[in-house]
Amino acid sequence: MKIVAGSASVELGRKIAGNMGVDFISAEVTRFPDGELHVQVPTFEDDTAAVVQTTYPNDKIIELFLIQDALREMGIKKIITVIPYFGYSRQDKLFAPGEAISARAMAKHIEIYSDHFVGMDLHADTILSWFSIPVSHLHATEPIAEWLKERNVNVVISPDKGGYLRAKYVAEHLGAEFDYLEKTRLSGEEVIIKPKNLDVKGKIVAIVDDIISTGGTIARASEQLRKQGAESIYAVCTHGLFIKNAVEKLSGAVDEFASTDTIQSEHSRISVSRVIAKHLKALAPG
Ligand code: R5P
Repeated sequence: MKIVAGSASVELGRKIAGNMGVDFISAEVTRFPDGELHVQVPTFEDDTAAVVQTTYPNDKIIELFLIQDALREMGIKKIITVIPYFGYSRQDKLFAPGEAISARAMAKHIEIYSDHFVGMDLHADTILSWFSIPVSHLHATEPIAEWLKERNVNVVISPDKGGYLRAKYVAEHLGAEFDYLEKTRLSGEEVIIKPKNLDVKGKIVAIVDDIISTGGTIARASEQLRKQGAESIYAVCTHGLFIKNAVEKLSGAVDEFASTDTIQSEHSRISVSRVIAKHLKALAPG
């Protein structure tokens, strides 16, 4: 197997290949004068290629399709498409008539040139049901738990009920307690947001979410946890978009924050490369 990375995932792709002890190939991406993308993959001999490309922002989606097409043209028999961060995953249902189910549209197009899809901490499991090829859903639980262990975290909190299982799995790796935040209305004007079951007073707490976008969710959660006496607060996500003034907001709200390298940035301090490498090895042994 060869690892072929698009420009959104060069560093991650290189680490995956290093972990697996296989060749790493970086697609060359340039632009035509009108702005359209031109992709060229250095040719190689192999039956299988794993393309690693985060589909965010928009240009990276087109780039992925061009890389997949180049690999088919080269005669590669098995294309495994690894999408560390699946862009458009948050619109996974209709909120108003006439909308697109964007995550489904992405899945349908991604699978055209894929024999296997590999996703990482997808925003919703439903996304997997839109593929008609074999799929794998990987999780950043272990590397996130390792990062938190170094910080002696003893409580893992999900900012909402939907992320409860993520918090539970991270906590189990750490040997910590876990919970999720729940909103309770005290009166017409007063709402309190606090862990459903746990008391965080004097605890070293980690807020774990799948995505940090504007940082609003983490900032709000942290404010409440501080009021309830948390000693220190860390925030970790798999996919760090860090939109607008998110970094400023987070710096003021938590003791330290980090994301994985599904979206490469200066805050990608946790790598999912080992998780992906291990899975790809299992998919194509030898
Ligand atoms: C929401 O469903 C996600 O799990 C995240 O909580 C959300 O995307 C975070 O967004 P923001 O950082 O803008 O609050």
